[in-house]
Amino acid sequence: MTGIRLHAPNPGWAVDADVVVIGSGVAGLTVALRCAAAGAKVTVVTKARLDDGSTRWAQGGIAAALGEGDTPEQHLDDTLVAGAGLCSDDAVRALVTEGPDAVRRLIATGAEFDTDADSGKILLTREGGHHRRRIAHAGGDATGAEISRALVEAVREAGIETIEHALVLDLLKDAEGRAAGVTLHVMGEGRRDGVGAVRAGAVVLATGGMGQVFSATTNPAVSTGDGVALALRAGAEVSDLEFVQFHPTVLWLGPDAEGQQPLVSEAVRGEGAYLVDADGHRFMAGAHELAELAPRDIVAKGIMRRMQEKGAEHMYLDARHFGAEMWAHRFPTILAACRAHGIDPVTEPIPVAPAAHYASGGVRTDLRGRTSIAGLYACGEVACTGVHGANRLASNSLLEGLVFAERIAADITAPLPEPAPVHAEARTGAGTPMAGQPPADLIAPELRVTIQRIMTEGAGVLRSRKSLEQAAAELDRIALEADGKAGPGTECWETTNLLLVAQVLVAAALRREETRGCHWREDFPDRDDAAWRRHLLVTLHQDHTFAVSRTDSAAFPPVNPLRPQGVRREHP
Ligand code: SIN
Repeated sequence: MTGIRLHAPNPGWAVDADVVVIGSGVAGLTVALRCAAAGAKVTVVTKARLDDGSTRWAQGGIAAALGEGDTPEQHLDDTLVAGAGLCSDDAVRALVTEGPDAVRRLIATGAEFDTDADSGKILLTREGGHHRRRIAHAGGDATGAEISRALVEAVREAGIETIEHALVLDLLKDAEGRAAGVTLHVMGEGRRDGVGAVRAGAVVLATGGMGQVFSATTNPAVSTGDGVALALRAGAEVSDLEFVQFHPTVLWLGPDAEGQQPLVSEAVRGEGAYLVDADGHRFMAGAHELAELAPRDIVAKGIMRRMQEKGAEHMYLDARHFGAEMWAHRFPTILAACRAHGIDPVTEPIPVAPAAHYASGGVRTDLRGRTSIAGLYACGEVACTGVHGANRLASNSLLEGLVFAERIAADITAPLPEPAPVHAEARTGAGTPMAGQPPADLIAPELRVTIQRIMTEGAGVLRSRKSLEQAAAELDRIALEADGKAGPGTECWETTNLLLVAQVLVAAALRREETRGCHWREDFPDRDDAAWRRHLLVTLHQDHTFAVSRTDSAAFPPVNPLRPQGVRREHP
């Protein structure tokens, strides 16, 4: 048996399903709905409440070629440019061609997008890197909240089993190394408590991102990299982890601001806001043909450069010209967040600075969402499908969650060529299914802020060999000094996950000696296609060391040809 596991009590209870989905954002709930509709018994496990993931915080919207004159081909072009040479053409083509119908199916599921009062057509806005208006939005700037509402309602109506307040711990495998379920810890509420297991022939990771690895992020508190850490411990490949996207315009709340910060959507720039320094100079004009609507990495770098030149802690986003009515109608969420912090965007420019926003890399998958472990799928921000390359195009993530969720559900529920028996070990009681896997020492929760500080200083927007080596040494020291005294518990497990993803992220960032997309190396300021138009794949060894390997080209090698075992194939 390969893999490492978190130090945790043995499961005291177990439930069986055909498919277990970990996470309840757009990706997880769409997989769950589609698999259930095909007759599979699905259990959704989520860390907080069903509507508490990252999806609900998405403001700007969902990108799809829905507008007159727009085409999937144009959406593809913009996505490839933003991805800076590392997108998978096939993955992007799947996204942009299947995207419009996937959005229509989302609408049929109940999501209500903003429409023109006269024509009834979906209103579309622009965001960075898009040459057209192609971002559908809801509630003005509350798109994710509306999508989450519609999907949660649909999951409840479908009677899909959900386990809330449950932190996933580790993957269960059968004797042949296929996914066979997960262990999890339910936190105090609901029908079950303590450590248990959901046994299932197909496991779908849809756990979202890892923004909490940095001090300031737009991500909610639940985004602690649990899915990537689980996949690494289980022996799966992760890829492109060095490409962390920093959102250029996050409300600046002071130098010591920590945790989730209010986002000021790119759609505000899409509707005509501009970036200025303290002297009112519009520094992005002339820096790129799309000025403030250049791809996100370029705007974030433009802001950081100007901050360095001026010795400033932030820049400003000026949208006073929108006027009170437009602010209230089009951006009610952002208006309320700014006012809650004493800033009135109707009368004053908004102080903004970049903060960690999105993991472009993650658990490597193929076009069906399969990872390098048979039966283990990944979808949404936790996955690296190849859609985002070195830098995600704005508002492509909700679409990726939708499109690849449908692909995964189709793969899981497709008829098998011949019946495949469920492996005994996957179906035996909740005893010690991971015997033989060495437990990882747990990291004390007090070290969470130290890890975040190390990452922000050493592996933030601007990186160098020196800053990354220092970060690696400090993170390694934390790992080495773990003395087994930190006992099992949610905060310890989360901090242990954060440390692991931080170490892998830094190892990859150190290895990539160039500047590309959202990976910005001060000591290697240029893009180097000859040496680096390739991906970095990382796997974790049993002795806790990493293997970081470079692909031969921008194409990913194939992942796992095997389908999961034991998934129901017919309507019951
Ligand atoms: C935004 O509204 O600016 C965020 C959209 C995204 O991250 O895709």
